[in-house]
Amino acid sequence: MKKSVEEYVRSIPDFPEPGIIFRDITSVLQDADGLQMAIDEMQALIDSDKVDVIAGTESRGFIFGAPIAYNLHKPFVLIRKKGKLPCETVSRSYDLEYGTAEIEMHKDAIKPGQRVVVIDDLLATGGTLEACDKLIEELGGVVAKNVFLIELAGLKGREKLKDYEVASVICYEGK
Ligand code: PRP
Ligand code: MG
Repeated sequence: MKKSVEEYVRSIPDFPEPGIIFRDITSVLQDADGLQMAIDEMQALIDSDKVDVIAGTESRGFIFGAPIAYNLHKPFVLIRKKGKLPCETVSRSYDLEYGTAEIEMHKDAIKPGQRVVVIDDLLATGGTLEACDKLIEELGGVVAKNVFLIELAGLKGREKLKDYEVASVICYEGK
């Protein structure tokens, strides 16, 4: 029988620290069926007619975002970690478990009014995608949806993203 995409996710207990179950996507990517299923099932959550641009957040969001943009024949926009983009940027900081991080986009990446779907591998606390969504809005874009392969429901990322549409292929109840 055909495996489900969830069966390709490798769960590693006590990584990176005791009590945490790490949901590893390398095992999905390393399998041709797993990779194809992940892209197809994420893409199926998007209504192509209602989207102008696909955006992906560095780095794991790039892996899934670019093939989805290619398949839907949409532009692909990079949301990068600070200091990587060469032209004029807007940036935003967000909280991590320890410390803060900053992401950037080129100012010309989104045109006012464009509808943007943001892709990432994992929804945990939602801090990363909240920062992405706010940046897109700062550029005049409209966030159509946030699409993830995996959601860790116990970390309540959906609550942080309550102002946005959220969809995930696989949802784990815990953290
Ligand atoms: C991970 C993951 C998501 C984010 C989720 O990225 O790929 O982007 O954390 O966490 P949050 O919902 O609590 O914000 P990470 O910053 O570890 O970097 P990577 O994608 O470059 O591996
Ligand atoms: Mg990431």
